[in-house]
Amino acid sequence: MKKSRNRSSALPAPSVAKTSLTAKAHSLTVPSVGRVAVAIMAAGKGTRLKSQLPKVLHEVGGKSLLAHVVAAATQVVAERDVYAIVGYEAERVRTELANSGIQFVLQAEQRGTGHALMAARQALAGYDHVIVLSGDAPLITAETIGRLLQFHLAEKAAMTLLSTDLEDPTGYGRVIRKSARSAEVKAIVEEKSATAAEKKVREMNAGFYTFSVPALYGNIGKLSTSNPHSEYYLTDMAEVLRRAKQRVVVYKTDDANEVLGGNTRAELAAIDENLRLAKCRQLMAEGVTIFYPATCVIDCEVEVGADTVLEPFVQILGKTRIGSGCRVRSYSVIKNSEVADEVTIRPGCVLEGARVGVGAVLGPYSHLRPGSEIGEGAHVGNFVETKKIKLGKGSKANHLTYLGDAEIGRNVNIGAGTITCNYDGVNKHMTVIEDGVFIGSDSTLVAPVRVGKGAYVGAASCVTDDVPEDSLVIGRARQIVKQGWAREKRAARPTTK
Ligand code: UD1
Ligand code: CA
Repeated sequence: MKKSRNRSSALPAPSVAKTSLTAKAHSLTVPSVGRVAVAIMAAGKGTRLKSQLPKVLHEVGGKSLLAHVVAAATQVVAERDVYAIVGYEAERVRTELANSGIQFVLQAEQRGTGHALMAARQALAGYDHVIVLSGDAPLITAETIGRLLQFHLAEKAAMTLLSTDLEDPTGYGRVIRKSARSAEVKAIVEEKSATAAEKKVREMNAGFYTFSVPALYGNIGKLSTSNPHSEYYLTDMAEVLRRAKQRVVVYKTDDANEVLGGNTRAELAAIDENLRLAKCRQLMAEGVTIFYPATCVIDCEVEVGADTVLEPFVQILGKTRIGSGCRVRSYSVIKNSEVADEVTIRPGCVLEGARVGVGAVLGPYSHLRPGSEIGEGAHVGNFVETKKIKLGKGSKANHLTYLGDAEIGRNVNIGAGTITCNYDGVNKHMTVIEDGVFIGSDSTLVAPVRVGKGAYVGAASCVTDDVPEDSLVIGRARQIVKQGWAREKRAARPTTK
């Protein structure tokens, strides 16, 4: 379904032929769409998670539950037609989603899913239809939302709900149809209120709905709180509307995964696993080799080029992009970084906010912190930490080194144990190392300092002043040799047996 910014026709006229509506829907002419909003119920605390963090901000696949739902919703309607109904820790939720372009509605007190929609009455007044999503069910896709809407329109319903059959629907609301063959719904019965016979129904209410806005708000006042939770249940609208002689229908999907909710930590883990494996499958289909996919943690938005090999136990997080023909060896964690083609990342590397050029070699055990830019073919090796640096093409820092706030040219050799002393206790200062410089092992470069093109720094130097091009600098105490000193010492103090 296409995204449109035009509020008066938020959706293109649905093409029934393209979708898999039921045979019955095919024979109906589809009315014009009208103005469509999406309301996402996201005000609950999530008591079952036993968490300070609001439920919808818990993460799966590297993104909050709510961010997943918003991503699906904004593929169906324009951002400004998406309303998140927030309540518990509302400010925190708003802040997290601040850049999404969606709108927020406050449900100050959380008195149930029906009450959430009561809170959105004013915001939704100008729309013809509202698609209601659950902020805690992140696997819903734009395709399914689109089909739910189309079915609703084709059926000219006041309320359409999404359902699926579950092996074990315990805990969910059950869909009670007028008859087995009919799409029309008599009621949705919550687990706690269900009779023994109703509990046997395997068709569960997924928690996604489309309502005609006038029908919803013309009748929502009839909801009551006479139920075991003393809440206003949105699910009761099915019976309320049916009694008001309005059409209530159900659209069943056979993808049971899409409706999974993250009510408990165990459910969150199941959803997370589901997303991670789906991500691995997607990357493998795109030509990435992944050994032992079940051990790899790859966030939803990560991109990896073809012929890259990911070894077991790697984590690739956030907005990371990895080119093609790379090899990422075990136990590396890469976050919000850009890695070009043909890069080798040996075991145990940690990258965050780094950029790595073509053919570079990292690790084992390199730590690239934010602002690290590693040039083409450069090497960063064992126990080397970098932060806010540019390391030029072909340069090497292979062992036990800290490079921070530095601009390092091409073909520079940084000896083992080199340290840029970038911090004077108050401010950070720059170290500049020009092309072709050789820094001997165990040198300290006290910033601000510049080492000119082609210069040599003798091992163990402490460089405090700029070094001219092509010169040799030695900044260490001269070696003293005391001939025979050790022998004399041993003779003076004979060893005891
Ligand atoms: C709900 C349905 C149930 C369905 C299940 C599917 C009701 C009464 N029951 O149960 O039939 O099978 O979803 O997952 O609707 N929320 C608010 N404000 C509130 C209360 C909840 O915004 O006052 C939000 C929650 O943050 C959550 C969503 O609504 O994102 C659903 O609420 P939740 O308490 O998880 O409902 P379920 O018990 O899962
Ligand atoms: Ca839920």
